[in-house]
Amino acid sequence: MKKVITYGTYDLLHHGHIRLLERAKALGDYLIVGVTADSFDQARGKLNVEQSLMDRIEAVRATGLADEIIVEEYEGQKIDDIQRYGVDIFAIGSDWLGKFDYLKEYCEVVYLDRTQGISSTDLRAKEHQLRLGLVGESPIMNKFEHESQFVNGLTISGVCSDHTRHLSETLKQQAMPMSELDSLLSKSDAIYIISNTRYHYDHISRALEHGCHVLCESPITINSEQLKQLRAMAAERNLMLVDSLKTAYSMAYYRLILLAKSGIIGRVVSVDATCTSMANLEMSDEHDMNYLWNSIDAWGPTAMMPIFQLLGTDYCSKTVTTHLLEGRPDFDAFTKIAFVYPHAVASLKVGQGVKSEGSLVISGTKGYIYVPAPWWKTDYFEVRYENSAENRRHFYQLDGEGIRYMLVSFLKAIQTGRHINYLDQTVSDAIVKVISDFYRKEKIIFI
Ligand code: CTP
Repeated sequence: MKKVITYGTYDLLHHGHIRLLERAKALGDYLIVGVTADSFDQARGKLNVEQSLMDRIEAVRATGLADEIIVEEYEGQKIDDIQRYGVDIFAIGSDWLGKFDYLKEYCEVVYLDRTQGISSTDLRAKEHQLRLGLVGESPIMNKFEHESQFVNGLTISGVCSDHTRHLSETLKQQAMPMSELDSLLSKSDAIYIISNTRYHYDHISRALEHGCHVLCESPITINSEQLKQLRAMAAERNLMLVDSLKTAYSMAYYRLILLAKSGIIGRVVSVDATCTSMANLEMSDEHDMNYLWNSIDAWGPTAMMPIFQLLGTDYCSKTVTTHLLEGRPDFDAFTKIAFVYPHAVASLKVGQGVKSEGSLVISGTKGYIYVPAPWWKTDYFEVRYENSAENRRHFYQLDGEGIRYMLVSFLKAIQTGRHINYLDQTVSDAIVKVISDFYRKEKIIFI
């Protein structure tokens, strides 16, 4: 019996796939089809796969062409499969021409002509067109423009900015002044906002009025009352209002939170997060200072996230200590917050004018998790114990600092009307509450 094997993702199964399977089957007597696992696709940069592994397997099964279906989970598995199943022929589409010649050592390799004019990528892009406008004054918008290329169906509809010096040439060409925000909104389905936090409320409410979904750099607002109003507006209009906090979408971060919650270091007793970066304050003139984010706005949300995700948002007390920039009563160069919970404590340090070690330490009754600096864009962390022989290092892939995963998730949220909880709304609300208190100058110690 001649055994043939072929592999693919088979997302939104189309006639190109079916023709491939038919011709692969005709090469022998028994066809094995390898369907890629989600984690394998992610690792090779295929982020937008729409259907779950089970749905894709079911679609392949329904063609009636596969005699056996297996799951492809890791790099190098093909050699293993060919040997294990006694495969005679490896068949694949001609888009892979030459790429699998190394398998000739194990079996015959056949490249079949790819069917022209159809692909899962095109089907996904056609189904889900989304025009995203960029609003604000930050070089991070360049990263969004770059990362949007990895998200099927997403196009940048334009840019509104009053400070274009840091923008890429492509974005500069599309940029219009903030006074023309309405015109950007009218040609967008959604917007990403990274304007100074003082303007978020205005920008978000106008976007929602125009029927645009909103992905807003956290904090969504600096006032809890305004946040409530915006949430109500978004809900009324069936629009998404989501925090942009890229660390939440980094696989290493997401997994470490799950591990900590699953009790791997015992009960969590302390969370300590530090995030600093040096804003060029001496070089910043009046105009620049208008757009510069202070420490609590720039880093507060990121630093608060692991605290609230692990210990919850019902802290008993918080002590805020801050150091203001000279002559700038609204600009904290450094802020430290200490939270006390019934059975735990937490602390955060954030700085735009003070530098420190940007690490994250989660201490538990059995061990601790250590994430080295800069922890907010890490692909690595360690779980450590008293007996160092039990320590474990965890590595995960991180492409585009998490921005592309966040965009994919935002797009999915819009399509399905359901936001997957990378960042719970209660956490988002609690972040705004702390920042809101900060601006009300409630019980702050100034140093
Ligand atoms: N295939 C084909 N003709 C097409 C599309 C795919 O022959 N028009 C073949 C591929 O060469 C591969 C198999 O079908 O051997 C599974 O391909 P897969 O990557 O799942 O499909 P694509 O449509 O290429 O998916 P994507 O656009 O996500 O890359």
